[in-house]
Amino acid sequence: MPPGDDHGRFVSVGRLTLRDGEGVCVRARNRAIAVFKVDGALLAIDDRCPHQEASLAEGELDGHEVLCPLHCWAFDLRTGERKDAPTGHRVRTYATKRQGDEVLVALPEEPV
Ligand code: FES
Repeated sequence: MPPGDDHGRFVSVGRLTLRDGEGVCVRARNRAIAVFKVDGALLAIDDRCPHQEASLAEGELDGHEVLCPLHCWAFDLRTGERKDAPTGHRVRTYATKRQGDEVLVALPEEPV
């Protein structure tokens, strides 16, 4: 299983057809989640950048890091931590798994 917070219940986000190096924003239980495919693994983080809420799914991938499309803050998809400056900013990570053709993301029970 890829890294990510696996607390909570796995929820289907549908059938995703991603190539390596691509990301997509999906919605589940009022959350916007960015799912990326890196080296065949699916990695999921909050889609909204903590700076000014740009969609991280639209960011450019550099290995296991995504660069925010607005101001290029870099986040590690495995930990959610900001990598380019140790400011304490981070995004939530979510565990993922496949079930048949569908992708499931582990969502926490608490409200958004
Ligand atoms: S909105 Fe992401 S770095 Fe500014």
